[in-house]
Amino acid sequence: MKLGHYELGVPVFLAPLAGVTDKAFRETVCAVGGEYVWTEMISDKALTYQNSRTLNMLDLYGESEPRIVQLFGSDPETMARAALLAIDCSANVIDINMGCPAQKIVKNGEGSALLKDLPRAQAIASAVVRAVHVPVTVKIRLGWNDEDIVAIELAKGLEAVGVQMLTVHARTREQFYSGQADWEWIRRVKQAVSIPVIGNGDVFIPEDAGRLIEQTGCDGVMIGRGALGNPWLIPRTQHYLNSGSLLPEPRLEERLQVVLQHFDRILRYKGDRIGLNEMRKHAVWYIKGVQKAAQLRNVIMQTKSPEEMRAVLIQILQDIG
Ligand SMILES: Cc1cc2nc3c(=O)[nH]c(=O)nc-3n(C[C@H](O)[C@H](O)[C@H](O)COP(=O)(O)O)c2cc1C
Repeated sequence: MKLGHYELGVPVFLAPLAGVTDKAFRETVCAVGGEYVWTEMISDKALTYQNSRTLNMLDLYGESEPRIVQLFGSDPETMARAALLAIDCSANVIDINMGCPAQKIVKNGEGSALLKDLPRAQAIASAVVRAVHVPVTVKIRLGWNDEDIVAIELAKGLEAVGVQMLTVHARTREQFYSGQADWEWIRRVKQAVSIPVIGNGDVFIPEDAGRLIEQTGCDGVMIGRGALGNPWLIPRTQHYLNSGSLLPEPRLEERLQVVLQHFDRILRYKGDRIGLNEMRKHAVWYIKGVQKAAQLRNVIMQTKSPEEMRAVLIQILQDIG
């Protein structure tokens, strides 16, 4: 598939994940062979106020194209201004969040609240498309709840105002992350529009991505939760889609090296105090599924310094190897 002048093949995207897909994690995914990553969602208002934390989220230095930045907001003009600022920070694609279910977002009319206000959703997309010279994409859910599925109507409206790609997370707002993603709706959206459609929801192993494409005809896939503590899932899924064959899981030495490099990046970008705290979360994901994970989790949570965290990680990963 093509997005603007980018030829992406059948892409596997790392999903935008607030609090997760920061620069350190994006670089880690790319270091193990992932090609297409997304920023966390970034507030249009905070960006236009030049909030320093928000500007840090737009540090795209050294990252390869296409650099995809996701914005959320509810006002067309503010979104358009924020999109221009993101482009000043070297974004190559602007993605608009129309799926975040969190109450603190929805109560401001942002994220999945837009599924209840299609004219506004369309006006936001239109304003951003008119303001920028790069591709604009949108990430949606199916609708607010089962009684109000709007994905097809919304998709058509977004295509009509010049949106160039859609990602469909096949759940409703009310579902949050529960239940199963209903891929059938991805197939229906794909049939209803002619722009590329990326399928999203419940891809946890490379073969899931193969089934998602087979069942829906979608042009690419996006992986979120499956990549937590498992950045290798992105390149392994890409390899599977490209070749039909499965790469082996990474060996212990590689895992250890990647985890420690991820930690170094976190410390570099966030400093020791915040970095240590952030690594606790990632470390728990990296050890998920191993024996005695609950006990190890406590050890990780009690680490008091980067040095201690490093030593604990090496010990744990060597023990489970
Ligand atoms: C911790 C977390 C943070 C998320 N943050 C965002 C976000 O910033 N923007 C967005 O569009 N979706 C966000 N999502 C939704 C994911 O991008 C994705 O649509 C969802 O997790 C379904 O895909 P999966 O089944 O592969 O996880 C988030 C999900 C999780 C679990």
